[in-house]
Amino acid sequence: MLRIAVLASGRGTNLQALMSAIGAGRLNARIVGVFSDRASAGALALAREAAIAGVSLSPRSYDTRAAFDEALFSRIDDVQPDLIVCAGYMRLLSEHVVEARRGRMINIHPSLLPAFKGLHTHRQALDAGVATHGASVHFVTPELDGGPVIAQANVPVLAGDDEPTLAARVLGREHPLLVATVRLLAEGRITLGSAGVLLDDAVLHAPLRLGDDDRFQLPQRDND
Ligand code: GRF
Repeated sequence: MLRIAVLASGRGTNLQALMSAIGAGRLNARIVGVFSDRASAGALALAREAAIAGVSLSPRSYDTRAAFDEALFSRIDDVQPDLIVCAGYMRLLSEHVVEARRGRMINIHPSLLPAFKGLHTHRQALDAGVATHGASVHFVTPELDGGPVIAQANVPVLAGDDEPTLAARVLGREHPLLVATVRLLAEGRITLGSAGVLLDDAVLHAPLRLGDDDRFQLPQRDND
């Protein structure tokens, strides 16, 4: 069973989506720890309520980013995750901790990467006047929001949208997107090869796109 460690700095609704999918038998995985840079993170409260180990370390207690990351990832290694999910984790990760976990760490980002990397993505989308926005799940590499994209969910920008209304519509699609993507990782169907994302060991030439049914249209496997 896939062991998942979640990194979160905020509310934790993406964490909650994973917990709910596991609880409903829709995701064959186990969350073995929730880690945060903020003791007040809602995600840690969710972990506590679910009797999942929660760890928060304060960056202010460490002299350098590297020292903080070293300490945090040492605690993450203690729970021996197969997959690390960054779900609203708001700190840059040091290159060495990312490289050491290549192919085992993913991030969900609220834009259709490579568009709108970084923060305030919904503001960026509104300012750019795009008609379609959305969310992406990608493998984490040292470049911020720059790793190979696994899957995306499109979200329309509607007349009259402001940042809160657009953010809410995107967040509502992030949850099924993250669950569907982690399911493929749990099934071993998605991996990271030297040439990029592999689906069933074949190079994925474009991100998977989440349908309105919250599923991906995937090629049938021989033994499906
Ligand atoms: C999500 O929009 C995610 O895409 C972004 O931060 C937000 C986290 O939300 N990285 P939550 O803490 O999972 O509710």
